[in-house]
Amino acid sequence: MSGGYAHLHPSVRHLADEDANSRIRRIRTDRWIGYARAEAVLAALEDLLSFPTRTRMPNLLLVGPTNNGKTMIVEKFRRAHPGTAAAESEDGLALLPVVKVQMPPGPDEGRFFGAILHALGMPFSPRDRIATKQDTAVRIMQAMGARMLVIDELHNVLSGSAMQQRRLLNLLRWLGNELRIPLVGVGTAEALRAIRSDDQLVNRFEPHPLPLWSDDDEYRRLLSTLEAVLPLRKPSHLADSALAGRVLSASEGVLGEMIAVVIRAAVRAVETGAEAISTRMIEDTGFIRPSERRRVVV
Ligand SMILES: Nc1ncnc2c1ncn2[C@@H]1O[C@H](COP(=O)(O)OP(=O)(O)OP(=O)(O)O)[C@@H](O)[C@H]1O
Ligand SMILES: [Mg+2]
Repeated sequence: MSGGYAHLHPSVRHLADEDANSRIRRIRTDRWIGYARAEAVLAALEDLLSFPTRTRMPNLLLVGPTNNGKTMIVEKFRRAHPGTAAAESEDGLALLPVVKVQMPPGPDEGRFFGAILHALGMPFSPRDRIATKQDTAVRIMQAMGARMLVIDELHNVLSGSAMQQRRLLNLLRWLGNELRIPLVGVGTAEALRAIRSDDQLVNRFEPHPLPLWSDDDEYRRLLSTLEAVLPLRKPSHLADSALAGRVLSASEGVLGEMIAVVIRAAVRAVETGAEAISTRMIEDTGFIRPSERRRVVV
């Protein structure tokens, strides 16, 4: 036991004494890192969930670039409001307060309702009529006490023909009215474009942007939080200018990339025995920037 590790969160300190392999496994394990913007979105979602039922429910649109933490936020919210299995609930009915689906690519009504039925754990046949799927989906959502419908990858609406797009947007409007529950759309700027193409939807969806990161206090705080949960034996001072700048430029401000860069460097820090991340280590991981990766010809 080499006590101390003041740079680590108290709950992580004891892990710093583990051997290299188990620490590398821990470093690579997905975990939730809180940051102000995510907490604000989570609070807005809580608000929506407790909103009294009205004819016209407010909706929310979480918009941001790809790999920037949108799905992580709605997943965290869903985990905070888990369902109850029929066997465990008082009246013997399964409950599911937050229903989350992905808008299928090349979307049509049949596939969309198929996605909802799948999320509800309801068996269905792709050959069922659209009206049947629609009916079942709405009925089961009501029976399961659904209080929010989250639609991830909403930008996939745009992958359909103009006619399909119209129909799906109409359907969303109809669904919100019929169920009287808030809809939460999640997607890239394209999702916002899709919503804006419908005059009635646009003023029902409040956009919450999740922009790229820049070098500010919140970014530095995120790095400190991250450093505190990675069981390295020495402090790296990730939030200091040199390292913070290096991580930001390697990741081009994309949250998922920032975390991936730091994790790779942390693994390297364990493997080499250096036990702290340095700018050199970030270069050594050979990280290819997202924009460079897109240019690679395969
Ligand atoms: N709060 C967080 N804590 C820890 N890791 C995170 C967090 N948010 C994002 N990440 C990391 O970033 C990756 C990408 O996040 P996520 O899948 O939520 O992005 P997205 O915005 O939904 O992307 P896409 O538009 O491509 O679906 C995650 O796999 C995870 O590694
Ligand atoms: Mg996502």
